[in-house]
Amino acid sequence: MSDNRITTPFDARSTAADVIAGVDLSGRRAIVTGGASGIGVETARALAGADAEVTLAVRDLEAGERVAEKIRSGTGNTRVLVAPLDLADQASVAAFAADWDGPLHILVNNAGIMAAPLMRTPQGWEMQFATNHLGHFALTTGLHNALAAAGGARVVSVSSVGHLNGDVLYDDIHFEGRPYDQWAAYSQSKTANVLFAVEAFARWASDGITVNALTPGRIRTNLMRYIGDERNAAIPAKFEAGSTAVQWKTVEQGAANSVLLATSTLLDGVGGRYFEDCDEAEPAQPGIRRGVAAYAVDPGAAARLWQISLDTLGIPAG
Ligand code: NAI
Repeated sequence: MSDNRITTPFDARSTAADVIAGVDLSGRRAIVTGGASGIGVETARALAGADAEVTLAVRDLEAGERVAEKIRSGTGNTRVLVAPLDLADQASVAAFAADWDGPLHILVNNAGIMAAPLMRTPQGWEMQFATNHLGHFALTTGLHNALAAAGGARVVSVSSVGHLNGDVLYDDIHFEGRPYDQWAAYSQSKTANVLFAVEAFARWASDGITVNALTPGRIRTNLMRYIGDERNAAIPAKFEAGSTAVQWKTVEQGAANSVLLATSTLLDGVGGRYFEDCDEAEPAQPGIRRGVAAYAVDPGAAARLWQISLDTLGIPAG
């Protein structure tokens, strides 16, 4: 945790449109993973509205094209593109990175799954870790040269307050020797998203690439498909005045943090940090579901996870 915490004039109620007001992204190129659903749609819409070229990196091309068309017609920006990407399929990730041509200014690693039942990739990797972390790790390292070519590129790693539920299970990441726990698997993947920002920034700041992580807040989206309605219903429907308790945001509010980190001049040169409600998060306190866990921003752990990720993916250390 830095002792010079970054704060902005925005807060939990700010929307993607609020944080991007006045920002001109013409000539910039952006990718939003999972851009055909939930927070990703509103993230892409805000970037396109500021005149960026936006590629929705999605599994379902038809759904992606439907969303892209809505964004094009709503913003008047015709440069909203759709490209295939399955983060759980390393061949798909490699093909996406290989097909990318020219500089990349903004990469929003937004796609994810939560609390899925035990599923494995063909390599035997647990699916939440494989999708949320390993897929984005391979994608971002695969696009490193394009990011460096942009001069001042931003990478945004969408994590979650769920990272507070637990660290990376370094001794058995893929649940080979312990019973599967859908929430432990989600939290380790979301802790990994923060550690990725810490280490990627440490490695790539000299290329002008800044990398930050965030929690979007709690938003009703398709992400909830694996959890029961009871758990969802237990959370009050909207903000209560003066309350900082965990409550539902709209998708436009949920995308604000991503769009802020991707575009705001307030974040120029800032990297390796974790944001919540448009400010850098404070250190987590026991019993309070806010803030960032010390294990998620630990530089030694970030370097260790980077090496594990390289080894797992069979990428030579560069
Ligand atoms: P969503 O389910 O609406 O969107 C997730 C997107 O990721 C979907 O488009 C889905 O197709 C895509 N995706 C899943 N697996 C993929 C794969 N193998 N390859 C490519 N794309 C894949 O959910 P939402 O809420 O918009 O989630 C976006 C991000 O926000 C996720 O990373 C999630 O962990 C994070 N988040 C969301 C919260 C919420 O309350 N909705 C809370 C905290 C974090």
